[in-house]
Amino acid sequence: MNETFHVEGLGGEHVLQGDIPVHGAKNDTLKIMAASLLFEDLVAVTNVPDVTDVAALAELLADMGVHATRTGRNLSLAAPTSANTTLDTTRAKRLRASVTLTGPTLARYGAVSFPHPGGCVIGARPIDLFIEAFKKMGADCTTDDHHYHFVARDGQLHGADMFLDIASVGVTETVMMAAVLATGTTIIRNAAMEPEIQNLAHYLAACGARITGIGTPLLVIEGGSLLTARGKAYAVLPDRIETGSFAILAALAGRGVRITHCDPQHVAALLSFFSKAGVSYHTDADSITVQAPTAPYRSVNIRTHEYPGFSTDLQAPMTVFLTQAEGEGMVFETLFEGRLRYTDDLVRMGADITMFDPHRVMVRGPRTLTGRNLAAPDLRAGLAYVIAATIAAKDSDIHTIEHIDRGYERVEERFRALGVPITRTQEK
Ligand code: UD1
Repeated sequence: MNETFHVEGLGGEHVLQGDIPVHGAKNDTLKIMAASLLFEDLVAVTNVPDVTDVAALAELLADMGVHATRTGRNLSLAAPTSANTTLDTTRAKRLRASVTLTGPTLARYGAVSFPHPGGCVIGARPIDLFIEAFKKMGADCTTDDHHYHFVARDGQLHGADMFLDIASVGVTETVMMAAVLATGTTIIRNAAMEPEIQNLAHYLAACGARITGIGTPLLVIEGGSLLTARGKAYAVLPDRIETGSFAILAALAGRGVRITHCDPQHVAALLSFFSKAGVSYHTDADSITVQAPTAPYRSVNIRTHEYPGFSTDLQAPMTVFLTQAEGEGMVFETLFEGRLRYTDDLVRMGADITMFDPHRVMVRGPRTLTGRNLAAPDLRAGLAYVIAATIAAKDSDIHTIEHIDRGYERVEERFRALGVPITRTQEK
């Protein structure tokens, strides 16, 4: 059954108040789920968000023979001694992160077949760097109409020295996982440094992997045997994209909102922009409090970048912010070329946005937004629409919210607790 968010716009009033908790990060959860294939014993995961991408990956793992049990926010995963190494096409196409299963599968079981992965439609999203890395590690690749087939030539992968042309999150994680069970040393140069990669690497190291350079662009992994968790649980990080998006909502419509259960350091780039734009906030170890504005916000220029730079996943909510700030703000999306298309809908709502090319838009503010009938185009822009609808004059209906449910757990309940007039309705 299709569902819709109905939002009664607050018309620019700053009325939201109270605490909003951040849940565990989807992007962290998905990667430890993939990494469970490297373990001899059961991996227990805590702080797991109840989002549909996690359920979809659990189904893919179950197809392979992984025994997954979920109780509330806890998930336990036990990999089989021999697995079905062909990823189901329909399921794998549901989410991009399915591609991260390929590294540990190939490393442990010697083969993997998978379709081109799915996920948010935010540009080409090729997998050339995965293919190149597996070949370097001693895998042969063949393709047919539906699948890539990889087989480790000697029955197992070998360490390799590689430079990633792009500091890709997925490639860094996938190669790191594969390298843990390869023979010899793998060196990943220009590795991505996102907190989720660091959390995963630290856990793997605590369970027997030999990884150095964690949190730097130079990862060195000495391959070895299967890892053992021995009851050590994996604690999923707070979702930094929820953290940043909630802080933006608080800046635009709040009069004292505290974002709790988060790590403010993970959104340092956003907070730096907040300071320049005139947003009043303060941080504690695990919370951010955003106060009501005392003067109009000022525009800033943003440029997305790999961590610790400004996250591409916060680009759409930040563009909504800029529609309410005085002056001109340039948004430069450097990672994905299709990730500014949603701005057409903000223009329909009344925003003054000029697109120069698929990577750059200029936002002039402040402009009053007016509620509209919208369709969430992807996960992150979908949440940005909820924020835009909240501050708009008049009501909005946001359709295709299954995109939002992929990564944000019942976000409307948490928004409603702050005072956002939002309801989830079934489409007739
Ligand atoms: C992850 C996050 C996603 C976030 C992105 C960038 C997950 C599940 N998703 O996605 O939310 O937006 O990081 O922070 O963790 N690329 C290639 N060839 C490849 C692989 C990637 O050209 O083989 C390109 C991509 O098209 C993109 C860039 O590299 O332009 C960065 O993407 P990447 O870091 O790989 O993103 P994901 O891991 O897919």
